[in-house]
Amino acid sequence: MEIELYLKQRKELVDDALDRFLPPKKTYPDIIHDSIRYSIFAGGKRLRPILTLAVGDVYHQDLSLFLPAACALEMIHCYSLIHDDLPAMDDDEYRRGKLTNHKVYGEAMAVLAGDALLTMAFDVLSWDSVIDPQVTLKVIQEIAFASGTRGMIGGQVVDLKSEGRPVGAETLDYIHRKKTGALINASVRVGGIIAGAAEAELERLTRYGECLGLAFQIIDDILDIEGEEEKLGKKTGMDTWKEKATYPGIHGLSAAKEKVKELYNESLRAVEVFEARGEVLKILAHFLVNRDY
Ligand code: IPE
Ligand code: IPE
Ligand code: MG
Ligand code: MG
Ligand code: MG
Repeated sequence: MEIELYLKQRKELVDDALDRFLPPKKTYPDIIHDSIRYSIFAGGKRLRPILTLAVGDVYHQDLSLFLPAACALEMIHCYSLIHDDLPAMDDDEYRRGKLTNHKVYGEAMAVLAGDALLTMAFDVLSWDSVIDPQVTLKVIQEIAFASGTRGMIGGQVVDLKSEGRPVGAETLDYIHRKKTGALINASVRVGGIIAGAAEAELERLTRYGECLGLAFQIIDDILDIEGEEEKLGKKTGMDTWKEKATYPGIHGLSAAKEKVKELYNESLRAVEVFEARGEVLKILAHFLVNRDY
């Protein structure tokens, strides 16, 4: 499988669906729809929806069944980035190679665009008529839990509260597993839930999602030190500047890289049970841990 081509095709699928699910630009009040579309279509790897669709591939299922949930996950991710960049949080100027939402539309509109994306994600899920309502309910619960105070928001809270303070390994682990890991893991699990995975298989997918979720944030921390701004589409060196709790900051750069390798190997072992069908998950894991953007 040619990974670059696979990613490009999946990204197109997701982008088309997002375009259908979001209100057109020229919907009153235009400014908010403009602001939402600005951030959604600014770029981005579409990793979370691609993971959901990849689980659909594992089960050889019709991918249109997975698209509403995949797009809802991307909407929530995008909202989290818009808010994460606000002056009250990380105060960043660039995202996905463009000015951050609040730099273009102002802080009030950026707050509202984030709020709207979060709400619209659940709207898209609740209108989903392609999957069984019982399954839809499980998907909604999964995504709501992962985005809430025991998931992403919890991680963001501790991330912010830890700025400029000495932080232990356990707290760092909590931050990373929650602020980033929770939604990535949910993206994998939701794929499994829609596909009707058996409990034991869902457990394997969860292990895979947990490993990749944590690895993903450790790599984000590493790229903040070693990455190229041009490729990343955001400013580097910001974690040091903001005195953030990061994996390289606490454990050192080489231990951070070692940890990523360990998590990668564990993610591969987790999906061994799927045999040849799990190949797509292994290829995605390889891409993710070797990414430079
Ligand atoms: C960036 O996420 C924020 C983190 C959770 C680390 P991504 O690296 O997935 O950002 P996009 O979606 O590709 O822009
Ligand atoms: C972002 O973590 C996590 C969420 C948005 C939930 P970071 O603050 O490290 O992400 P970047 O580096 O700004 O993309
Ligand atoms: Mg942040
Ligand atoms: Mg940030
Ligand atoms: Mg970061």
